[in-house]
Amino acid sequence: MAKPTAKSWAPDTWRARPIEQAPDYPDAAQLMAAEKELRRYPPLVFAGEARNLKARLASVGSGKAFLLQGGDCAESFAEFHPDNIRDTFRVLLQMAVVLTYGAACPVVKVGRLAGQFAKPRTATTETVAGVTLPAYRGDMVNGMEFTPEARRPDPKRMIQAYNQSAATLNLLRAFAQGGYADLHKVHQWNLGFVADSAEGARYRDLADRIGETLAFMAACGMTSETTPQLRETEFYTSHEALFLNFEEAMTRIDSTSGDWYDTSAHLLWVGDRTRQPDGAHVEFLRGVKNPVAFKAGPTLAPDQMLRLMDILDPENEPGRLAAIVRMGADKVERALPPLLRAVQREGRRVVWVCDPMHGNTVQSANGYKTRHVDRILAEVGGFFAVHRAEGTHAGGVHFEMTGQDVTECVGGAQAITEANLSDRYHTHCDPRLNAKQALELAFVIAEALKQERTSGARRAAAAAP
Ligand code: PEP
Ligand code: CO
Repeated sequence: MAKPTAKSWAPDTWRARPIEQAPDYPDAAQLMAAEKELRRYPPLVFAGEARNLKARLASVGSGKAFLLQGGDCAESFAEFHPDNIRDTFRVLLQMAVVLTYGAACPVVKVGRLAGQFAKPRTATTETVAGVTLPAYRGDMVNGMEFTPEARRPDPKRMIQAYNQSAATLNLLRAFAQGGYADLHKVHQWNLGFVADSAEGARYRDLADRIGETLAFMAACGMTSETTPQLRETEFYTSHEALFLNFEEAMTRIDSTSGDWYDTSAHLLWVGDRTRQPDGAHVEFLRGVKNPVAFKAGPTLAPDQMLRLMDILDPENEPGRLAAIVRMGADKVERALPPLLRAVQREGRRVVWVCDPMHGNTVQSANGYKTRHVDRILAEVGGFFAVHRAEGTHAGGVHFEMTGQDVTECVGGAQAITEANLSDRYHTHCDPRLNAKQALELAFVIAEALKQERTSGARRAAAAAP
């Protein structure tokens, strides 16, 4: 494969490119001052951790592991609370356990957390009762409240986003390594409002079986003391690299390798609205050594995707690149095969991830942005079916979810109706799965994964001499 000629790159070369979704700051000097301050702040993640995640994603790419990526659509300053972080983390743990146990497959856990503060918007303004103001672009940029003051982009918000990310990451690291994620605590991850549901009961059942397995292992000498894998877990962070002034300020040279890393998160992705091959966001991401991803929506043509891959991953490096596919339940079975085939034909390596959220957003009759759990399930089902048919690995899933008992997505076993949406609709942007709905999905995905693995094993046995 011909490699594109390497053009020189620096953390600021994106500034010479056309840019989509950039906020309009009224005071450029204030913005520069905030960037300067951020450049002095410590990295949030370390290059070595990003390299570890790349190695994990390489094993996802070769079909030996599965990626679970999830968290808020948009983190918010107002909802910053340790209980919220803990609840999201433990639902992710529950989901990971369901997948690991159900499908006997290692699960790589990545949060949409500790940095997911900037949002792309379809419309640049919002009009309410004849008043037009700039659109809300995430707490890192402006406020959600519909007033001219709140909607004015404020560079100091970058500093607050950094501080909240640092505190969130600190707690996540403690949860992941300080004993909370010990597999012996598998029963305690069943949240209050989840515990007394059908999914909660199903989870309890599985936790009982894990408990028996752990007792057997302990009898063989494998305990939390002797086996770190039982005591702690690896947890990584990710967000959309949308607000490049912030990302540039967090990009540093790693003293071990001499390479540039964006130290704001382990994994960064470029969104469906900002993935233009010649645009600023792709230019920025091509130069950092973190694992990176791009969103693949229904308008992404195969040749355009290959061009994006050449730019973002010229070395075809294992674990470097993920495609987060978000076609919509009605389109995935038609739109995904041409992308898969193009990748196969070119001998490209990519981790295929299913985002069943962003192609299935609808407006409810009573005016809420919502998603139907059955459409979400249908897209996941379609994604797995296409991979089965093409003989490729369905590498992972990407969810917008929360540990809270919100009513933002309709349907599911809990049967949330449109009339229920107003009960607890708290999202700052897109509708999220609540903990019960997320767990319900994990059980379905575990089944699909198990099927993929048994049919793969059957194929391998049939091909054996
Ligand atoms: C998102 O992930 O919140 C998002 C805006 O996604 P997309 O770029 O796929 O629309
Ligand atoms: Co979203």
